[in-house]
Amino acid sequence: MYQATSVTELQQYVQHWKDHDQSIAFIPTMGNLHAGHMSLIEKGQSLCDRSICSIFVNPMQFGPNEDWDHYPRSLDRDLELLKSIGCDLVYLPTASELYPDGLDRISQVQVTDLTDHYEGAHRPGHFTGVATVVLKLFNIVKPDVSVFGKKDFQQYRVISKMVDDFNIDVQIIGQETTREASGLATSSRNQYLDQAQTEKAALIYRTLQQTAYQIDAGERDFAKLQQTAVSVLDEAGFKTDYFTICNAETLLPATPEDRDLVILVTAALGQTRLLDNIEVSLW
Ligand code: PAJ
Repeated sequence: MYQATSVTELQQYVQHWKDHDQSIAFIPTMGNLHAGHMSLIEKGQSLCDRSICSIFVNPMQFGPNEDWDHYPRSLDRDLELLKSIGCDLVYLPTASELYPDGLDRISQVQVTDLTDHYEGAHRPGHFTGVATVVLKLFNIVKPDVSVFGKKDFQQYRVISKMVDDFNIDVQIIGQETTREASGLATSSRNQYLDQAQTEKAALIYRTLQQTAYQIDAGERDFAKLQQTAVSVLDEAGFKTDYFTICNAETLLPATPEDRDLVILVTAALGQTRLLDNIEVSLW
C-alpha cells in the first residue's frame, strides 16, 4: 500500500493510474477504522480499479466544545487494516497543507436547506466543515467514485447535493450501515460506551425497526409514532435529541403522501451521542 502526505505526492500516484486508464474510488475518513469503513473501501474496490482512503481528523467540522482533541486516533492499526484488505493508497494530509492560512481564513462551502436541521442545528458549522474538506479532497484526488456511509444519512445527502449543485464530476455511492450483532450501528464513538451502555444502545435500532414496521403496516400518524419512540428511548435512560420521520430526499418532516422515507435519530447515553437511521420504502 502506498502512502502520501503531500498533495504533490498523492497526485503523482493518481496521475500514473489515470495515464493507465485506471478508475479511482475515494473513501474519506477520520481514521480509527472499523468494519463500517472497510465496507466502504470494499464497495469502492468492487466499482473501480484503484482505491484511495484518506485519514484526516478535520478540525473544521468540530465545534469548540466537541471531541476533536479526544477523537480516537489509531494510525498503526488503521494502516494494518487498510493493507489487509488491499487498499492501494492511504492519503494522510496535514492540517497545515489543507488549511495553510488557518481555519478562519479558508473559504467555506455552505450547502443549503439540508443542513438546517438535525445535526446541522445541533452542531452549528459542522456541515460547512464537512463540505469544505470533502470538496478540497475531491479536487485533490479527482476520483471517479466516492463512497459514503448511509450511517451518517444527512452527511451522505449533503455531499450528494454539493456534488449536484456544483456539477462536480464524481459519482457518489451510499453504502448501507454496518452493524454489530445486536443491531447497534458500528461507530468510532461506541468505544466511549461502557458494557451496560453498549447493551442498552441496541435499543436505538430496535426502536427504529419497530417504527418502520408500523409505517409499513399503514400507520400515518407520524407525530404519534415519533412521540412513542422518544418515550421508549428516554424511559430507558437515553436523552433523545430527535427522532424524526423524514422525506428521504429533502429530509423535511414526512407527509402521509411521501413514499421514500428515512427515520433519523440521535440519542445520547451519558456523554456519548449515538446517530442512527432506517430507510422505509413504501412503493
Ligand atoms: P468518519 O466518521 O470517519 O466516517 C467515514 C465514512 O465512514 C463516512 O462516510 C461514514 O458515514 C462511514 N461510516 C461510519 N460508520 C459506518 C457504518 N457503521 N457503516 C457504514 N459506513 C459507516 O464521516 C466522516 O468521517 C467525516 O465527516 C468525513 C466525511 C471523512 C469528512 O471529514
